[in-house]
This record gives sequence, structure tokens and C-alpha cells, in this order.
Amino acid sequence: MPIPSPLRLLGLLTSSLLLAAALPAQEAIKVGEFASLTGKEAVFGQSSHKGTLLAAEEINAAGGLLGRKLELITEDNQSKQGESATAVKKLISRDKVIAILGEVASSRSLEAAPIAQKEKVPMISPSSTNPRVTEMGNYVFRVCFIDPFQGTVLAKFAKNTLKAKRAALLTSVSSAYSVGLAKFFREQFLADGGVIAVEQKFSEGDKDFKAQLTAVRAAGVDAIFVPGYYTEAALITKQARQLGLHVPIFGGDGWEAPALIELGGKAVEGVFYSTHYSPEIPTPEVQGFVQKFRARFGGETPDAMAALGYDSMLVLADAIRRAGTTNGPALRDALAATKDFHGITGKTTLNAQRNAEKAAVIITVKDGQFKFVETVEP
Ligand code: PHE
Repeated sequence: MPIPSPLRLLGLLTSSLLLAAALPAQEAIKVGEFASLTGKEAVFGQSSHKGTLLAAEEINAAGGLLGRKLELITEDNQSKQGESATAVKKLISRDKVIAILGEVASSRSLEAAPIAQKEKVPMISPSSTNPRVTEMGNYVFRVCFIDPFQGTVLAKFAKNTLKAKRAALLTSVSSAYSVGLAKFFREQFLADGGVIAVEQKFSEGDKDFKAQLTAVRAAGVDAIFVPGYYTEAALITKQARQLGLHVPIFGGDGWEAPALIELGGKAVEGVFYSTHYSPEIPTPEVQGFVQKFRARFGGETPDAMAALGYDSMLVLADAIRRAGTTNGPALRDALAATKDFHGITGKTTLNAQRNAEKAAVIITVKDGQFKFVETVEP
């Protein structure tokens, strides 16, 4: 970059001062969001977006931030590879957003994070759990737990509650989330004396899992772990039951979507998965949130993505207030100092790795409904 001469600098300064004077005093604070509003994981993006939007609306109703209104600008990545990078570039260069919220799926957060980092625009993922997301740099945060914890919770659950000794592992090799969660589960399950009797692979979008499940059947296991997203999880469970495999099947937070039950039908009765929150948690915070969300979105009950989306916006707002500015480095420092922030998914404290440490929740499917089983503290 050429070094501007003092004269030119002066010119730049005066023109930006003039520009500032010409702007309305109360220019909105622009926050960018990228989400899978359409496409394969539209449920994730829609839920997360509704939670984020509700929080932004509430902040504005209460007078905004630093005397300014908040403007949420949302870009749809269509659940497609490559689109998250494009969306975040657009939000930063065209819209000049001061922070980025997103994504749910780890692979898509991983795509966007290096861009936010390079531009020094703080990014908060509401619900991506793969550890690598925040390792992308010191401008990248998340308000959820990470998969080394989730994998441990699931391995302990398999051993202690399901009494599983020989497990099967079905990993989606095209998803960073799935590969990571499989690894952390495997490590803990083996450390506790369990055996992974068979490992099989699939890819996002696959529809036929008979070959993998035939191998699982041949291996003779007492539980099947499927770290993946809800569409494949539902199909795998359905096909497993058709093949006469009646052992417990379980997964992680990627299973969380009404579509799991819609696609899986009777086959998903009795499955288990871990996640971040349940609308059944009887605290005033959770129950108040459920009521507000239902009132705003036609009776819909908020899931974990909605709760974390909501919390991501609130954590950002809290940091903006403490920073007293929306300037990137100052806002980054304020975010990094987030401590004991009370949200819907518990208390958020961002640790030195910019991750939150929070409890996990186990859910089962009973009579075609999601049912809260237990909370597991970190
Ligand atoms: N944790 C998942 C990922 O990292 C995304 C997810 C979060 C899905 C919450 C459902 C609920 O890809």
C-alpha cells in the first residue's frame, strides 16, 4: 500500500469528517448474520436466525445500544459450501457490519472465521462445537460448549446409562463437526474400557446406508453412535430398524430438529442425543424465553439453535455496552472479557480459548415428542 503524503492524509481526514457530519447522528449499529436459511440444513439457520432476531428486536425496544438502534443484516448461505465465505465478505465490505454472528454448522463457521479474523471484525458462532472454529484466531468466539466435552458426555452416557461395551461409529466424513465428535467420543469410550467394534463412513446428502448398517449388524454391537445431522441420522435409524438392528442409537446436537421425528417416524422412538438446552427446563429464564418466542413466531417452540442464537446477540450487545464503542479491537477485547453473562443457555464466561463452558442436556424421543432426560454439568 502506498504511504499517503501528509497533504493527502489531511484531505482524507477532512473528507471523512465532512462525511461524518453529513450522516444522521443516530446511524444504526450494523450486525451481520450468516445462516442456512434455505437448503439442506434450513432448520438450523431458521431457528438460529429467529432467536438472533428476537434478541435484536428486544434490544431495540429497550432503546438500542450506545444510543443507537441495532440493525441485523442476514445473509443466506443456502447450506452450501463456499457460500458462507461469500456472505461474510459481503457483510464486511458492502454492509460494513461491526460484528458477525453465525453459523450453526462447524464447517460453515470454519469457512467464514478466517475472513472475520483477517478483517478484525469480531465473530461469534452461536452453536458450532468443533474446537477448530475458535482456533482460527483471536477475533473468533462462540457461546456454546465444544466437542471434546460433548464427546465425553456421550461416551459416559453410552457406558453408564446405555451400558454399552461394544459400540458402532458412523461418521459423516464431509462434516468437520462429525469427524471431530467421532474422534472425541472414540477417545473417551476407549479410555473407559469400551470397544469400537466397527466404524463406517458416509457423506452429507447420502440416502442409502444399508451397506454400512449391514457391516454394523455383522459386528454385533450394543449401541450405535451417529455423530451427524438430523436428516442422515433419521434415515440411518430408520434403515437400521428395517435391517433388524434394535440396539440403542444415539447422536449429538446435530440431531436437534423436528425433522428428525418427521423423517424418522416410529423408528426414532427411544433414540437419545445431547444438546445445549431444552424448552422443558423449568427455570424462569428458559420459560420466559419460550413464551416470548412462541408469541413472536406463531406458537413455535424454540430449540437449542434458537436459544444460542438469542444468547449470541445478547453477549455481543453486552460487550458493545462495556466497550462503549463498536470499534473492532476494542469490541474484541470486551468480548474476550465476557464473564458470568446470564442468558438462556446458562452463564456464559468466555475462556482463554474464546469458548464457553456450559452444561449439556440429554434428550430422548418418546411418543413422537422430544423429552428432556438429564443435564450434565461440565
Ligand atoms: N454443533 C453443530 C456443529 O458444530 C451444530 C448444531 C448446534 C446443530 C446446535 C444443532 C444444534 O456443526
